[in-house]
Amino acid sequence: MAAMNRSLDSALGAADAALRTLFARPHATRPLPLPTEPSPGLDEAQRRQAGALMRVNHVGEVCAQALYTAQAAVTREPALRAHFIAAAHEETDHLAWTRQRLEALGARPSLLNPLWYAGAFGLGLIAGRLGGDRLSLGFVAETERQVEAHLDSHLTRLPLEDTASRAVVAQMKADEARHAAEAIEAGAVELPASFKALMRLSARVMTTVAHRI
Ligand SMILES: [Fe+2]
Ligand SMILES: [Fe+2]
Repeated sequence: MAAMNRSLDSALGAADAALRTLFARPHATRPLPLPTEPSPGLDEAQRRQAGALMRVNHVGEVCAQALYTAQAAVTREPALRAHFIAAAHEETDHLAWTRQRLEALGARPSLLNPLWYAGAFGLGLIAGRLGGDRLSLGFVAETERQVEAHLDSHLTRLPLEDTASRAVVAQMKADEARHAAEAIEAGAVELPASFKALMRLSARVMTTVAHRI
């Protein structure tokens, strides 16, 4: 009975987190990172390009919420659950910041966000259920590393004039690098190369689609 209550609790908690990520306005606990240089202003093409890239980054953060929530739900280790919940909290800043940039750029979030959320949640469950805690952490470390590399590529693709988005992406990149380091410190195992390649491939599908839709 206690076990059943616990799984009902975590199912309700997970549903609540999903609804909040997808439909509520996220609240950052840290202030929006501000550029050191003011933007000279964007033309229409630059605004569209920046909007598409920030939509992709927003989807990434929707997925981060799903991954961390799923992993917190399946781990049996209280310390690890606390680690995942704390990480999801910090990712909420990223979710709020990318959302703010989307609005400022006059771009909309991806229409497929519920789908991205469900996919990432499923992956998080599989990583936690099949592989156990150390593999789950390995999955986090690899995800964060791939996101960091991806954000780095966005720093070359975002218009130089969009200093506001660049400041947000630079701070996120620093945070993701720290998240990877923390997962490794908590005991992450290195994932098999084939699994890493599969993750890169699914990220490529997501970023390509989210660029447009
Ligand atoms: Fe993030
Ligand atoms: Fe992260």
